[in-house]
Amino acid sequence: MKRVITYGTFDLLHYGHINLLRRAKEYGDYLIVGLSTDEFNWDEKQKKSYFSYEKRKQLLEAIRYVDLVIPETGWEQKTTDIKEYHIDTFVMGDDWSGKFDYLESKTDAQVIYLPRTPEISTSQIKKDLKI
Ligand code: CTP
Repeated sequence: MKRVITYGTFDLLHYGHINLLRRAKEYGDYLIVGLSTDEFNWDEKQKKSYFSYEKRKQLLEAIRYVDLVIPETGWEQKTTDIKEYHIDTFVMGDDWSGKFDYLESKTDAQVIYLPRTPEISTSQIKKDLKI
């Protein structure tokens, strides 16, 4: 079985997220999402999500491409997650291009950046709705 992992906040879930998850799942049979906790978002990304971690997790778990949601609490955990969950492929949107190449030398996983879906983002939704 081929295992894939991706990470993100996935707040105000939108079709850009669904596209990313669908394409990530195509690289294997089992997709894990490392979902940023509210604390990680606030402390490390200076972002306050609209939906709480538990609500964002519930939404992701309802998506057919997603097999498991685990908390992302720090930048360093990717290496250990990849080893612990026997991950073959690490996938991120190309806004992170190059940022995680180091994982290929630290683990056995292949690192792939997928093109983002144009013209949609959580930040844009928040801006448009003034929330
Ligand atoms: N993503 C994507 N296409 C989009 C928006 C997001 O492929 N239009 C991908 C990101 O590249 C990332 C994952 O979805 O791999 C989760 O992204 P996240 O940062 O949670 O969503 P954004 O909409 O980019 O949120 P923000 O605007 O707050 O950065």
